[in-house]
Amino acid sequence: MQEFQGKVAVITGGASGIGLGLARRCATEGMRIVLADIEAAALTRAADELRAGGAQVLAVPTDVAQAAAVDELARQTMDHFGAVHLLCNNAGVGGGGTVWESSLADWQWVLGVNLWGVIHGLRAFVPLMLNGDSAGHIVNTASIAGLTVTPGIGTYTVSKHAVVALSETLYQELAQRKAKIKVSVLCPGFVNTRIMDSERNRPAALRSDQPASPRLATMQDRMRQEVEAGQSTERVAATVFAAIRAEQFYILTHPEMKASVQARMDSILTDSDPPRFVPPPQHA
Ligand code: NAI
Repeated sequence: MQEFQGKVAVITGGASGIGLGLARRCATEGMRIVLADIEAAALTRAADELRAGGAQVLAVPTDVAQAAAVDELARQTMDHFGAVHLLCNNAGVGGGGTVWESSLADWQWVLGVNLWGVIHGLRAFVPLMLNGDSAGHIVNTASIAGLTVTPGIGTYTVSKHAVVALSETLYQELAQRKAKIKVSVLCPGFVNTRIMDSERNRPAALRSDQPASPRLATMQDRMRQEVEAGQSTERVAATVFAAIRAEQFYILTHPEMKASVQARMDSILTDSDPPRFVPPPQHA
């Protein structure tokens, strides 16, 4: 996809963080924008900001974990703009706890948003994009956690590895069809967003009352510092748009984190145990 002016972008989780960064960039490129998010007030604020800058925006309150809600998002997109050219399956939430201590609700919530949200997005929008028969692009937001393994965030890690595999499968399937739609999987390291406050969006039915263990609380403090010191969403969006133009599949925003991907691959290919986890250097 090389032409963006007047084209239609759909961005889930578009009300804040990386999604809003992508939306701002889409506006700069002259795109028409569909913003979908579960957080109603933030969604209105984001849409107002983009409209004030001159963009055409449709804001649709959406819980991506619900298939019917994502189908409705697709219906409204087609009614309003009549096409979809860029799909960013970006909505996501963080999760913490050992594999065995994470509650059923923890697993259901994190996999529901991070994995099922992307599955619903692809099932609802890919047929429309194929029918449209124009150049298009899909960006699924995974994480560097989709290529490596960090103890203590199993729900998140599992969801993100699945999004990488899902995106790779989609890539192969669209290539077999010689489709005009290309795919990228976005695997950022730490980005300065509200990801560590993801609990704000957990539905009441999936609340977990378990207090964080001291080990988990320490780890979360550390991750919060890393996120606060993380890359700007503006820079991530610039990297994503360069990758879309170059038709680049894997988008790793933090080259210094590639060593841990390499270490994992080396372990697999040399029949070794998983590499010992080394936390990133602490920020002040
Ligand atoms: P954020 O919390 O700032 O933004 C996430 C957005 O998703 C929010 O606007 C939130 O309201 C929305 N959302 C949450 N649950 C939803 C649902 N069920 N349906 C629709 N929207 C929902 O966090 P951030 O960092 O911008 O997250 C965006 C994506 O980036 C996520 O997939 C996250 O896993 C991924 N990511 C973030 C990294 C970081 O360091 N911030 C690193 C790697 C990946």
